[in-house]
Amino acid sequence: MMALIVIISGKSSPGTTTTVAALAYGWPAPLVVADCDPAGGDLATGWLSPWWLNGRLHPERGLLSFCTATRHTTSITADLLTPHLQAVPPAPRARLLSGLADPAQAISLQEGGWIRLAHALTALSTVPSGPVDVLADGGRLTAEAEAPWPVLEAADLVLLAVRPVPRHLHSAQPALTLLRQRIPQDRLGLAVCGTGQLGVREAHTVLGIPARLGLPEDPETARVFSDGLHHDKKVRRTTLARTAARAAARLHQAGTTIRLAHWTPTTMGVAR
Ligand SMILES: Nc1ncnc2c1ncn2[C@@H]1O[C@H](COP(=O)(O)OP(=O)(O)OP(=O)(O)O)[C@@H](O)[C@H]1O
Ligand SMILES: [Mg+2]
Repeated sequence: MMALIVIISGKSSPGTTTTVAALAYGWPAPLVVADCDPAGGDLATGWLSPWWLNGRLHPERGLLSFCTATRHTTSITADLLTPHLQAVPPAPRARLLSGLADPAQAISLQEGGWIRLAHALTALSTVPSGPVDVLADGGRLTAEAEAPWPVLEAADLVLLAVRPVPRHLHSAQPALTLLRQRIPQDRLGLAVCGTGQLGVREAHTVLGIPARLGLPEDPETARVFSDGLHHDKKVRRTTLARTAARAAARLHQAGTTIRLAHWTPTTMGVAR
């Protein structure tokens, strides 16, 4: 049992990447963090930049190298991902599929790359060494931009990241409309970034789908997860990291239940 969860945003930068990083940091089980932002990945050069700069992490190994290596592969298995995954030093249970260096590279992914990735990520639920959860950064979803739709459609849960302030909630509507056209309602939710005076309740009220997580407003800790600044052991004790760890445990647990729920109709002959 595992979960494939994608976090994606609308127009503004609500904190998608930061939230993915904070969840990965506190994830309670084996995890692949997949940087699928078509506009370019930020995890290796942001949150994980201390290890990029000291040579332990290689941003060029990841999504693009996987897509290039599997260009002529017809039978996609999870082990094809292995050479393109890297250890995440601050989160020993996680492995990173680093993102694109240049949005122009997304063009090469349209030719079946996202589909191969979706197959490989889904196959992680049945690897012999035990199921692996997947948490993906889907970048921004706008009418003009390319989106990793095959990965979104394979996901157990797609979370639209929003800031709980009126302007952001309003500008998230077009992305939600796009998601509703292709993702079943029961697999959609919100990731509320920077709760404070306003929070998950307001986001739910305005957008009409349930909030699956809310991370508190905390610019200083957020900078650790967005930019890799001042990463040390104290981070784990912050409210943001502790809230993220609790949310990660809930999502991991719910992923198991979602999968079970999916499985019942499938075994009854009804497609997912
Ligand atoms: N919970 C939070 N509290 C305070 N600041 C936050 C929080 N989450 C994110 N931020 C800040 O918001 C900014 C944008 O974050 P981030 O890069 O994660 O957004 P994004 O949605 O991934 O944007 P993009 O679409 O550009 O990739 C960063 O400076 C980050 O530190
Ligand atoms: Mg981002």
